Amino acid sequence: MSHTFRTAVVRTPGGPDTIEIVRVPVVEPGPGEIRVAIAGAGVNPVDLGVVAGVFHQLGLVHQPRHTGLGWDFAGTVTATGPGVDLAVGSRIAGLVPGFDRDFGTYAEQLVVPVGVTAPVPDGLDLIEAATVPLNSLTAAQLVDLLGDGDGRRLLVTGAAGAVGGYVLTLAGERGWRVTGLARPADEKFVRGLGAEFQSAPTPGWDAVADGAGLQERGVELVSDGGLFVGVRPSAPPAAERGVTVRVVGVEPDAARLAELLDATARGRLPVRVHAVLPLDEAATAHRALAAGGVRGRFVLRP
Ligand SMILES: NC(=O)c1ccc[n+]([C@@H]2O[C@H](COP(=O)([O-])OP(=O)(O)OC[C@H]3O[C@@H](n4cnc5c(N)ncnc54)[C@H](OP(=O)(O)O)[C@@H]3O)[C@@H](O)[C@H]2O)c1
Repeated sequence: MSHTFRTAVVRTPGGPDTIEIVRVPVVEPGPGEIRVAIAGAGVNPVDLGVVAGVFHQLGLVHQPRHTGLGWDFAGTVTATGPGVDLAVGSRIAGLVPGFDRDFGTYAEQLVVPVGVTAPVPDGLDLIEAATVPLNSLTAAQLVDLLGDGDGRRLLVTGAAGAVGGYVLTLAGERGWRVTGLARPADEKFVRGLGAEFQSAPTPGWDAVADGAGLQERGVELVSDGGLFVGVRPSAPPAAERGVTVRVVGVEPDAARLAELLDATARGRLPVRVHAVLPLDEAATAHRALAAGGVRGRFVLRP
């Protein structure tokens, strides 16, 4: 086995052109850790933020050499550390949170705590599974912040996006009467998940789940005294008119992720792969995502 592997990083962030593929040493898993041969890594908006230097500018990244890219992954276990009860060859998916790290999921390999992963059920391939962890967990934790709907009316902005799409289903299951705000071409997708549809926002909602990141413009759509749940923990929008403002910041949760992967395999949650690209073409995926209109995730295959 080679003693190095390939991974995509940025040294000085400045947009997709600054993504580099470098070779780094293979790492042995420590106690509670596993090494994974990555089959696919989802490309998410947060990765574009890292590559643009947004989080460096906020003072949230302090990497002396380079910053790793990618949160989502699925793959196969190739080695286990002490105390890990998981067979080599197991198919798993997971989420590496946080910005300040020199490694990421845009890579051939990854060493992570087993607790950020969950098994991939039969019936879900690893490319599909790579699109699930970050956005389904974010949506589930966002819906926790919404609580039970009891028939109240919820507007989900960015309803055709990865987070928003999951919120449509998960909030409906918690008793919200859900409407999705998305582009006109997204109507079929939104209605297909059992939600009502809007392409131009109207005000007066009991709650808004802000998958589009409308921020203050999203808060304005909530009725007096209602609830807004945002997606940008580093920049929560200001509250007004008695509106409660909450913001989701995703946390790994292995048990929840196992349920969400299972729900995806059984078709209760949608599988949304836009395209599969080689790791070398990470910048192509970033440019396309930045241009807008992408539905489903790009998945990088090392
Ligand atoms: N806090 C956390 O833990 C956490 C975790 C995951 C994601 N996030 C954040 O959540 C947000 C959504 O992520 P995502 O992966 O779901 O992104 P995504 O797949 O790109 O979805 C965003 C959707 O919003 C739509 N949109 C944007 N502006 C709109 C507008 N004015 N009206 C209607 N639709 C609009 C986009 O449509 P077009 O493509 O047509 O523009 C797109 O469909 C991102 O800001 C991401 O960084 C936060």
